[in-house]
Amino acid sequence: MTDPQTVTAPTPRIPADQLHAYVRAIWERAGSTPREAELVADHLVAANLTGHDSHGVGMIPRYVESLADKQLQLNRHAELMKDAGAVLTIEGGKGFGQVIAFEAIERGIERARQIGICAVGLRGAHHIGRIGHWAEQCARAGLVSFHFVNVAGDPLVAPYGGADRRIGTNPFCAAYPRPGKPPLVLDFATSTIAYGKTRVAYNQGKHTPPGALIDHAGMPTLEPKVMHEAPFGSLTPFGGYKGFGLAAMCEIFGGALSGGFTTHADTLGTTHAIINCMLSVIIDPAAFDAPDAQAEADAFLAWVKASPLAAGSGQIYEPGEPERVTRAQREAAGIPVDPATWTQINHAARTVGVSEAEVGEWAARLR
Ligand SMILES: NC(=O)c1ccc[n+]([C@@H]2O[C@H](COP(=O)([O-])OP(=O)(O)OC[C@H]3O[C@@H](n4cnc5c(N)ncnc54)[C@H](O)[C@@H]3O)[C@@H](O)[C@H]2O)c1
Repeated sequence: MTDPQTVTAPTPRIPADQLHAYVRAIWERAGSTPREAELVADHLVAANLTGHDSHGVGMIPRYVESLADKQLQLNRHAELMKDAGAVLTIEGGKGFGQVIAFEAIERGIERARQIGICAVGLRGAHHIGRIGHWAEQCARAGLVSFHFVNVAGDPLVAPYGGADRRIGTNPFCAAYPRPGKPPLVLDFATSTIAYGKTRVAYNQGKHTPPGALIDHAGMPTLEPKVMHEAPFGSLTPFGGYKGFGLAAMCEIFGGALSGGFTTHADTLGTTHAIINCMLSVIIDPAAFDAPDAQAEADAFLAWVKASPLAAGSGQIYEPGEPERVTRAQREAAGIPVDPATWTQINHAARTVGVSEAEVGEWAARLR
């Protein structure tokens, strides 16, 4: 557990636009173009706004470590390796995932608009963060999408029935746009909790939920330190063999079909880099003969939301709704950044050349 001070101190809140400006400043100082720094800041701050602090600004220290390892490549762009009409294969070259995935999805959107559907195999991108961000990019263009992602060569999750880490936290995501209404966005890691959530719990001195972790001996534990200090334990797959099965398909669709790589003894990463591969299928709903699709979707959602609430339940949410609620709250009240995470971000800022005086200035401005 971390210093108990971090548990009791109130968590400072930072307005999203100011946090965005600080993140931009850090990456511009590191050497990113203003456009790259902006896309990275857009993504990280949006992840915090949706409540996914595991994929927000707290990732900056890890990215700076990956840069120092000469893994993360600044100012790279998505490179089209093969254009087979409805299927595009794109190489990420360890460029910033926040740029590479944005550009890959832009290409997929353009093609799906032309011919109704596009499958994009993206390989070798540095961490592409919160996958819902890419599904929302498709939804803003009026397109349905689903995404299978592997975290290549970075096992953190035990297979169903296994006792050590063999698979990445391989997220799955699907989104359905609704004209005039927010899209449905289902977006989750196939581990019981995302790895980043163990970092947040570790930094905050909190336990993780029961069933989420096993220790190095394969025994259940609530201690997030098993993911951050040796001897290392593992995350469990969500939903037993079903989550394990979905993780396996994410590994193969994302890692193998894209021409990237899957996790096995020959591909284990030894650096701070997180490499993602993603298969995204993007579909124009107008290409189907389905004039009642929106009405049917709306009728279904109204139907499930009319269910009597179970004991202890406050509300029935549709996929993506909890993130919208959190976004509205955080846009109004600011983004909470716990002291341990804040210290780590400032340390990372200094590492890329932000001076002590500037860090102090930002700290004063962001208070
Ligand atoms: N890039 C990577 O390598 C990588 C790896 C793993 C996870 N991730 C990202 O981590 C993020 C967090 O993943 P997670 O598994 O912790 O997510 P999570 O467990 O919070 O689940 C989020 C999903 O469940 C829905 N949801 C949450 N509470 C709900 C409720 N009460 N009722 C109905 N629906 C509800 C949300 O709308 C969302 O679709 C995701 O954005 C994922 O893309 C990225």
